[in-house]
Order: sequence, then structure tokens, then C-alpha cells
Amino acid sequence: MTNNTGFTQLLFLLQSIFSLPFLCFCLERNTISSGIYLRDPETIVSPQNVFKLGFFSPDNSTNRRYLGVFYTVSEETVVWVANGDNPLINDFSSSLTISKDGNLVLMNGINQTVWSTNISTKTTASIVQIQDTGNLILRDLATGNPIWESFSHPSNVFLPTMKISDNINTHEKVALWSWKSDSDPQVGNFSFGIDVRNDIVQMFIWNNGRPHWRSGPWDGDTFTGQFSLSTSPYQEGFSIGMDDRTGTVFLTTPERRFLNMHALNSSGNLMLMVWDDQRKNWNTFWMQPHTECNVYGLCGPFATVGSCNNDFYFCSCLRGFEPTNRDEWGRGNWSSGCERRIQLQCNYTSSTDIGDRFFRMESTNVPDSAVKFSNANEDVCRQRCLVNCSCIAYAYPPKIGCMFWTDSLIDIRHYSSSPGYGIDLYIRLSPSEFVVLEDELEKVKLAEEFPLFTFETLANATDQFHGNNLLGKGGFGYVYEVHFQRLPGQGMDEFMNEVMVISKLQHRNLVKLIGCCVERKEKLLVYEHMPNKSLDLCLFDPSQTNLDWTKRFSIIQGIARGLLYLHRDSRLTIIHRDLKPSNVLLDLDWNPKISDFGLAKIFGGNQDHGNTARVVGTYGYMAPEYAVEGRFSEKSDVYSFGVMMLEIINGEKNARYYNYDKSLSLLGYAWKLWSEENGLAFAEESIAMSPDLPAQIIRCTHIALLCVQQFPKDRPSTRTVLSMLSHEIVDLPIPEPPVFAVGPTQPTCQVGKNSTNNVTLTSIDGR
Ligand SMILES: *[C@@H]1O[C@H](CO)[C@@H](O)[C@H](O)[C@H]1NC(C)=O
Ligand SMILES: *[C@@H]1O[C@H](CO)[C@@H](O)[C@H](O)[C@H]1NC(C)=O
Ligand SMILES: *[C@@H]1O[C@H](CO)[C@@H](O)[C@H](O)[C@H]1NC(C)=O
Ligand SMILES: *[C@@H]1O[C@H](CO)[C@@H](O)[C@H](O)[C@H]1NC(C)=O
Ligand SMILES: *[C@@H]1O[C@H](CO)[C@@H](O)[C@H](O)[C@H]1NC(C)=O
Ligand SMILES: *[C@@H]1O[C@H](CO)[C@@H](O)[C@H](O)[C@H]1NC(C)=O
Ligand SMILES: *[C@@H]1O[C@H](CO)[C@@H](O)[C@H](O)[C@H]1NC(C)=O
Ligand SMILES: *[C@@H]1O[C@H](CO)[C@@H](O)[C@H](O)[C@H]1NC(C)=O
Ligand SMILES: *[C@@H]1O[C@H](CO)[C@@H](O)[C@H](O)[C@H]1NC(C)=O
Ligand SMILES: *[C@@H]1O[C@H](CO)[C@@H](O)[C@H](O)[C@H]1NC(C)=O
Ligand SMILES: *[C@@H]1O[C@H](CO)[C@@H](O)[C@H](O)[C@H]1NC(C)=O
Ligand SMILES: *[C@@H]1O[C@H](CO)[C@@H](O)[C@H](O)[C@H]1NC(C)=O
Repeated sequence: MTNNTGFTQLLFLLQSIFSLPFLCFCLERNTISSGIYLRDPETIVSPQNVFKLGFFSPDNSTNRRYLGVFYTVSEETVVWVANGDNPLINDFSSSLTISKDGNLVLMNGINQTVWSTNISTKTTASIVQIQDTGNLILRDLATGNPIWESFSHPSNVFLPTMKISDNINTHEKVALWSWKSDSDPQVGNFSFGIDVRNDIVQMFIWNNGRPHWRSGPWDGDTFTGQFSLSTSPYQEGFSIGMDDRTGTVFLTTPERRFLNMHALNSSGNLMLMVWDDQRKNWNTFWMQPHTECNVYGLCGPFATVGSCNNDFYFCSCLRGFEPTNRDEWGRGNWSSGCERRIQLQCNYTSSTDIGDRFFRMESTNVPDSAVKFSNANEDVCRQRCLVNCSCIAYAYPPKIGCMFWTDSLIDIRHYSSSPGYGIDLYIRLSPSEFVVLEDELEKVKLAEEFPLFTFETLANATDQFHGNNLLGKGGFGYVYEVHFQRLPGQGMDEFMNEVMVISKLQHRNLVKLIGCCVERKEKLLVYEHMPNKSLDLCLFDPSQTNLDWTKRFSIIQGIARGLLYLHRDSRLTIIHRDLKPSNVLLDLDWNPKISDFGLAKIFGGNQDHGNTARVVGTYGYMAPEYAVEGRFSEKSDVYSFGVMMLEIINGEKNARYYNYDKSLSLLGYAWKLWSEENGLAFAEESIAMSPDLPAQIIRCTHIALLCVQQFPKDRPSTRTVLSMLSHEIVDLPIPEPPVFAVGPTQPTCQVGKNSTNNVTLTSIDGR
């Protein structure tokens, strides 16, 4: 009884003693000097308690102990490991101290050295301290000079103010090394560092010493191939410096107020992580290689990643090159890359200015292994490349200067969807590569900008053009599984128009042109592949039941965004003139993409409308002023968009629409029901019956009716349509009844008889 009480009192006493502040110095120690032992599981902390040095076991390996540096806010986030290759196994009594020769040593339970800073020191008295940057520094106690620091021996984490480097004389590198796995800090397969060669600095991730990812050259401000670096708010801080005395070039990031780090994980992904203090976790802000498509040299020499979608990609040969091994290439094995199609002439003389020429490839991450010509302006750069036949490409980014390539062009990326980023690369080709089309300047320019497929290639890929929108099956299947458009009746002018227009457009709601072919009087366009074909096939096919209202609404919004880009966001104003569901293609995620720009008109400057003597378009979608008088503008596209919206809501084609009451067109029917406040009855049964937002369906019908009003001035602009769809504009005006409220049996072209214009209607199903 008494004993028990005494024991309780003793416990109480011990507890009070241990919670007394003066006793805590041993726990909050922040240095280790001679004679002091840090014993597992004690720690030392940095002055402001940002980092700790101590012992840890990774996840799933509680029997293995390591010495490391970790964050105080997140102790499982280890930024440095001492004995990664030499763990303490089932040994929880190790200690860290300063040895007699001044080195920091980690000893196991029987006083054997497990790890040591292992430097030859002249001092016997040194002290080790963990800094708020995470750097563990061993200093000579007498002079205070650092004699060893953990930042010079990185693990898998790159911290602000740390330096990773390459020595231009010895090529000795300080680099990050990945762990073998998340639970094993042994040195893994990947490393991250910089490489300085020919005066060009690049970041690399290596896999067993072979390049795995490459940043592109440093231009003094940023890494040119990494435009996301300049757009990320956390990333502007990479800088490159050089220690002239030793010839060491280093990469560093400045000290930060928030916690952040670049970590290389065991599968070779480098990630910028930023600590979220509220959620108590790390957010990833940037990562490379971002997808499989960013892996170094994926497409082999003289080729580039043609399209990349969630790790699905295909490779394209550079212009003037063809697959080295067609069979492998056709099976999706790109490793052997491409080779030159027509040999270089190599007899350029400045006096005649004939000979090889350069093809300009815009917005690239330039190939690896560039060489620099110093003191050359752009003209000199080009000339020097031209006169030396071993120069096969050059580039002249002003901040870097003249770069050229000699052996091979490898690891090129083409930022086709981000024009303006990256560097223009000039590739040397035989002059006959440029005479593919007739000799007009514009067409030569086209040939320079586009992959030109040969007719035979496309014919093979499509089984000799069998069927509609054929997808390749044979050897070329993987490459040319594309939607392509054959333009039998189209004139050269329209074809050129389409190619030129579409080549300038880049938007997620516009279809992407991959290349074209002009040969044997055939004119073909090769588009990116849209597995789910066109909207009309989904919309007007009664067996397709999976097009619910949410999908329909997002399709409507997507088309409107694409249209806004055409009308307002691209540098030019472009009137499509033939908007209809068969010209809207769907990708795998149901994103709509507007296609078929054969009839598009481009305006520069302030012009925003036009007049034509040749009315072309599709019956049922043409605005009255266009069908009758040939006047077209943004508002005539808005009209077509309105018709399409009604079709999306109702699920019937305007042109083949027959109501019970045959006097009404689809437009008239919509207006009648809407004005009778019975708008929901207009929607297709399957969506009207679903519990989906009936108010949104009625509102969309209302917006569509505003779009199909007779007078262009009454119709909303594309931007207004989008604002209405997004509820930025809440109150909608009352629409006028549509003019073409008469049945389709009465051809609208008759109205055009008074017009002096000739009217051409393409067939309802389009080309
Ligand atoms: C290890 O060294 C410490 C300090 O010198 C000593 O106290 C301890 O007894 C030694 N342990 C063993 C197992 O030798
Ligand atoms: C210590 O360094 C020497 C030479 O600098 C080296 O031979 C030795 O293997 C190193 N020892 C350890 C434990 O790293
Ligand atoms: C630890 O093991 C669990 C269960 O097997 C697993 O889910 C987890 O990913 C492992 N953690 C690490 C770091 O390997
Ligand atoms: C590291 O590389 C070797 C050799 O290529 C391979 O066998 C091993 O699976 C790789 N390890 C990891 C973790 O990727
Ligand atoms: C490395 O990071 C990437 C990207 O976050 C992730 O997909 C991958 O699974 C990670 N690897 C490991 C081994 O955790
Ligand atoms: C791809 O082609 C190369 C030769 O070009 C060959 O060595 C390799 O085995 C092929 N890879 C596959 C997966 O077939
Ligand atoms: C350059 O070489 C090509 C063939 O290699 C030849 O046809 C052409 O005449 C030569 N031009 C000059 C200027 O020598
Ligand atoms: C052409 O360039 C190569 C590679 O830079 C160089 O070795 C060679 O000397 C140059 N030839 C001439 C004639 O300048
Ligand atoms: C097209 O197919 C034929 C017959 O299979 C073949 O001989 C020819 O080389 C192919 N052409 C191209 C460009 O692939
Ligand atoms: C695409 O079409 C297929 C086949 O009709 C269908 O199963 C799928 O749901 C559609 N949508 C997407 C996003 O794949
Ligand atoms: C035909 O057009 C002229 C001039 O545009 C107009 O004055 C006339 O009223 C029109 N005739 C008819 C029948 O619409
Ligand atoms: C209308 O077409 C006919 C036949 O193609 C042509 O002769 C006539 O000049 C055209 N009229 C106008 C105004 O374009």
C-alpha cells in the first residue's frame, strides 16, 4: 500500500522534472562537439527548428535504422541520409559523435564505425551543426571554417541554396541520387544534375548514366525547353553560377519563405514539392519527365513526338526524313528513328546562292549536343552552317547565340500547341525538298511549315482510300491512325486557304492538322485522330444513348469556346461559314473540336465581316443574310451555332425535321414551345426525363433562340453567348421568332432569286 503510494509519487516527481524547461537542453541541442554523443532516438534541431538531424526507419522497414536530416513539420520527409548503403540492422543503440581526428562518425551499438565524414583534417576539435537550410556543417572549432557539409554530398533532395554542379575541366559532378525504392535509401538508378558541354548548360536526369530527361539549354534566364518553368510561380528561381577559380558551374535556387524542395523519386521523376501548412502535406507543382512522352530520345534520331496524349504518343520524322525501318516504325517501335530522304548537295556557293536550304521548325526544344559558334550574328551563323557540309542544323536564340549541330538531331520537342515558346530550329535539306509544290512563294512556305505525306503513304495507310474516314490498319496503322479529309471537288485556292487558316490555329476545341498531301491532283488533309468521330454520328444515331445532358452541355460550351477563339482570341478574325454537327469532332473525353476550315474566311486588322458572290455552306445552318445576300460575319456563325444547339437539345436534324405539325421547322417548333413556357418539351425525351437541371435545358433553348434571330444585330456575340452559358449574364432578352419558321420543303434558295449572287449548297451530309 505504502510502497504503491511511494511509487506513484516518484512517477509524479519524475514527470514534473522532465517537463521542466531547464532540463530540455539535452533534447533541443543543436550542435555536437567532441565528447558529446547523439544517441538513437535523440535529435539535434536547426536554430529556428526547421530541420532535425536524427535517426529514422523508412516505411515498412522498422528493423533498419539510418541517420538523416528531416523536416520538423514532417519528420517522415527525409532530405539527406548518411548511411544509405549501410543501414544499422536491429540496432537501436547507435550513436553519433566527433572522433579524435575531428570527423563526424556514426557508430553502431558495439562502437564500430558505420559511417564517417572521412576527411583528412588537421584539427582535432570540430563541431557539427544543422542549419535552417537543411545543411549539416562540420566546422573547425578553432577557425570556424566549414570542413565538410552535407550539401556537397546530396541524397535525393535538392533544397534551396544548395548547389548541384559540373566542373568544366574535370567533369566532376555533384548530383542528386534517387533511392532504390521508397523504403530503401540505397543509391538507385537515377541521378539529377547539370551538364556543361561546349559552353551550353542543361539539366539532366540520368538512368544508370544514360540521359533519361533533358531540360534544353540555359539562356541566362531560364531553361529554354521548359516553358512551364517560367509560368510557375514557384519556379522562377533557378539560377546558374560559376566559380571561376575551380571551373565549377552550379545550379541553385534562392532561399524561400515557404518550404519547398525538388525531390527525385525512385522511378526517376523530379518533382517540385511545396509544403501546404494548412493541410499538412506536400503539393507537387512541377514534374519531369512529365509524361512518358518527355523521356529523352524517345523517337530516335531525326524524329520528334508528333502527338502526345496521356502517355499515348506517336513519332514523326522531321521534314525531309523518313523512317529508317518502316516495319518497326509501323509497329510503334520508334527507336531507330529516321534518315534523310534526299541526300544533301553540299555544293553551296555564295556567288550563285544555290544549294542546300534550311527548313524552319518553329518552337522547339532544340536537339541535344549542340556546339556553339561564338561571335556570330544570325546571318553569319546561317552562312557558316551553310558553307560547312557537316553542319546539319543551326539555331540562333539571341540570348544564347549561334548553335549548330553536326552528327545527329536527337531529343527534339515541338511545342506546336504553344507557339512562341521554345526556339526555332533550322534544318539543312536538299533544295529539291522545297520544290514539292508549284513554285509560288506561299506554297513553298507551306511546304516548309508542314509535314507533307506522300500520296502512296496515305493510300497505303487507308487501304487505298476505302470507305469513309478510314483508319490505317497495316504497317503504318499506328502512325497514320488519323482522321483525314479528302477534298475531291475543292479548288487549289480553297485547299490552300484551309491549310493556311488551320495551321495558324491552336486551341483545345479546334481539331489539329498534322499534315497534308498534294500530289497527282489529289489534295488531302491529315488530322489528329478523333476516336469518337463526329458529333452528328453521336447525336443523330438513335442507338447512341450515352449522350446525357451533362455531356451535351459541355459539348455546347466547348464549341462556343472554340468559336470564340476563331472570332476573337486568335490574332485573326476567322468566320467558319460551315458550322454543323458533322464538322464537330469528339475526342475520347467528349471534348468537341471544330474541324473543316475549307470555307473559312480570315480577316486581319479591323475588318470583321465580308460579302461573297459564292455562297457556300450547308442548308439548314446558314443564316438568312448569308444564304440570301452572301453577307457573312461572326453573327452568321452564331446563327449556325444556335441551330446546332437546338439540334443538340432536341436530337433531331433541323433539315430533316418533321413535326406533327409540318408547318414548323425545328427552329419554329423550339420557339413555339419556349414561348408557350413549355421549353422542356422541346428537349429530347431521354434528357428531358432525366432529373438533370431542367432550368439549364430551358435556358439553353432560350440562348439558342437568341442566336437564330433574323437580324444579325439582334444575335448575341460569341463572347456574350459564352457569358450567358456560364451565367455571367443572368437575365436573357426575349428572342424574336425565327424567320425560317417554315418547313424545309420550301427551299430557301428561292428567296435568293432576287439576289445577284450564285448560291452553292453543299449536300446536307457534307463532304
Ligand atoms: C562505446 O563507447 C562509449 C564511449 O566511449 C562507452 O561508454 C561504451 O561502453 C562503449 N560500448 C561498447 C559496447 O564498447
Ligand atoms: C575514406 O577515404 C579514403 C580515401 O579518401 C578511402 O580509401 C576510404 O575507403 C574511405 N572510408 C570510408 C569508410 O568511406
Ligand atoms: C508499405 O507497405 C504497404 C503495405 O504493403 C504499402 O501499401 C506501402 O506502399 C508501403 N510503403 C512503402 C514506402 O513502400
Ligand atoms: C535499375 O536498373 C537495373 C538495370 O537496368 C534494373 O534491373 C532494375 O530493375 C532497376 N531498378 C529499379 C528500381 O528501377
Ligand atoms: C514517382 O513519382 C511519379 C509521379 O508522381 C509517380 O507516378 C511514381 O509512382 C513515383 N514513383 C514511386 C516509386 O513512388
Ligand atoms: C525495336 O527496334 C530495335 C532495333 O531498331 C530492336 O533492337 C528492339 O528490340 C525493338 N524493340 C522492340 C520492343 O521490338
Ligand atoms: C550541286 O550538286 C548537284 C547534285 O549533287 C548538281 O545537280 C548541281 O548542279 C550542283 N550545283 C553546283 C552549283 O555545282
Ligand atoms: C566544318 O565543321 C566541322 C565541325 O565543326 C569542323 O570540324 C570542320 O573543320 C569544318 N570544316 C570547315 C571546312 O570549316
Ligand atoms: C505501299 O504498299 C506497297 C505494297 O504493300 C509497298 O510496296 C509500298 O512500299 C508501300 N509504300 C509506302 C510508301 O509505304
Ligand atoms: C466513344 O465511343 C465508344 C464507342 O461508341 C463509347 O463506348 C465511348 O463511351 C465513347 N466515349 C468515350 C469518351 O470514349
Ligand atoms: C429585289 O432587290 C431589290 C434591290 O435589292 C429590291 O428593291 C426589290 O424590292 C427586291 N425584290 C423582291 C421581290 O424582293
Ligand atoms: C453565276 O454562275 C454562272 C454559271 O456558273 C456564271 O456564268 C455567272 O457569272 C455567275 N454569276 C455571278 C454573279 O457570279
